[in-house]
Amino acid sequence: MPESWHPVAPADSFEDDAAKVVQIGETRIAVFRLENDFFAVSDVCTHEYALLSEGFCENGKIECPLHQACFDIRTGKALDEPAEVDLPTYPTRIENGVVQLQFDAG
Ligand code: FES
Repeated sequence: MPESWHPVAPADSFEDDAAKVVQIGETRIAVFRLENDFFAVSDVCTHEYALLSEGFCENGKIECPLHQACFDIRTGKALDEPAEVDLPTYPTRIENGVVQLQFDAG
């Protein structure tokens, strides 16, 4: 299957500690800039339904706004309860100054 890259936003339009959200089909993906790297994770918490892009982001972690579980933005790892399942992550790259993420709808 060919790789499927989706544009997110210009790399220089990202603010610290704030996600850009992309919706591809049914899937919401939050993209964060940490220093000069970009990371894409599911925008939906793995505990119940809450949007992580509406949560608090600091020091490479995103805190769920509903029950305050934290996830590592770089790896998607669930760092504390009540979330026990890691977030899906997606590769990113920069093409002509635009951040892209890889997502194959299947
Ligand atoms: S919905 Fe995210 S921690 Fe409960």
